[in-house]
Amino acid sequence: MTNADSTTSAPVFSVRNLWKVFGPKADRIPGSPEADLSAEELRARTGCTVAVRDVSFDVRKGEVFVVMGLSGSGKSTLVRCLTRLIEPTAGEIAIEGEDVRGMDRAQLRDLRRHRAAMVFQHFGLLPHRTVLDNVAYGLEIQGTGKAERRARAAEMVEKVGLAGLEGRRPGQLSGGQQQRVGLARALAVDPEVLLFDEPFSALDPLIRRDMQEEVIRLHREEGRTMVFITHDLSEALRLGDRIALMRDGRIVQCGSPEEIVGSPADEYVRDFVRDVPREQVLTVRRAMRPAVAGEAQGGPALSPATLVSEAIEAVARSGGPARVVEGGRCLGVVDHQRLLAVVAGIETEKVAA
Ligand SMILES: Nc1ncnc2c1ncn2[C@@H]1O[C@H](COP(=O)(O)OP(=O)(O)OP(=O)(O)O)[C@@H](O)[C@H]1O
Ligand SMILES: [Mg+2]
Repeated sequence: MTNADSTTSAPVFSVRNLWKVFGPKADRIPGSPEADLSAEELRARTGCTVAVRDVSFDVRKGEVFVVMGLSGSGKSTLVRCLTRLIEPTAGEIAIEGEDVRGMDRAQLRDLRRHRAAMVFQHFGLLPHRTVLDNVAYGLEIQGTGKAERRARAAEMVEKVGLAGLEGRRPGQLSGGQQQRVGLARALAVDPEVLLFDEPFSALDPLIRRDMQEEVIRLHREEGRTMVFITHDLSEALRLGDRIALMRDGRIVQCGSPEEIVGSPADEYVRDFVRDVPREQVLTVRRAMRPAVAGEAQGGPALSPATLVSEAIEAVARSGGPARVVEGGRCLGVVDHQRLLAVVAGIETEKVAA
């Protein structure tokens, strides 16, 4: 899903050694010995809670960056720190190279209104306004003229599939429809980055799936940069170009879904991804071995991005190994044994050539 140039252009957000500590004299905690105490001990001794602990990452232009973790792991705090809806305790944040912690009130307002739009779990809609006026709200506080903002809002309502419902009020919509309004409102200001804090967790599974498809579609069509919080692993794997997995305020691993599932950084991550259907996340790049005599010439050809599940089908049909081919070159082969080993989670480190 990532745009081709995303690794070379400047990151949208660049975060270094970020801390958020709640409580009295919080700024004394980062980097101090107390910071290494357990959460309970720290609270007992100082009255402080470390919500975000020495976190560093970049959000690349055009990617969906997922922040995942259990309840209380610091996801919401982290994302709110990005635009200083929560004031960080220590560390650096830059948006396209511009220092966010040094921004004054006017610059911050501009950041939140124009550059980074937030979509919340409980929609945050204005109950007495119509759908159209809710979507236009962000433009209104930006000072956009009425005709223009209504035209733009109508366009966004259409884009998220709510055409015909412009005149309704939020109370007359289903949960999924209300979240579409929230999404349209965020899109209307044409932000550089969309920030989602568990936007779909209040929705039932089928509608949730619909909304995930909507996000994937918008991302494909517009290449918009997104930071997406969830505690749902399958949602993270479906949407994320990269996933940062949080535990107790730290990022314990940051990588592509394939890296997280295929090479978990520690026991915690391994446990987290234990039930993931590996063949639907891992690719043949991870399963292949070097070709031996003659193998590079025959058999089905697969691209390195082919999922193991698809490769299983190809190998089962042909009865022999399949070649992994890129730019006319044979990178290796996958056979029954390799594919089974990957599905079973055996020897993946060795298999990943
Ligand atoms: N205003 C606050 N004052 C004190 N502690 C706070 C405050 N806000 C959050 N915390 C604590 O910081 C930690 C991280 O909270 P946060 O809301 O970021 O977690 P989360 O990962 O978003 O959880 P959830 O999945 O439940 O939304 C928790 O221990 C929480 O109790
Ligand atoms: Mg949260």
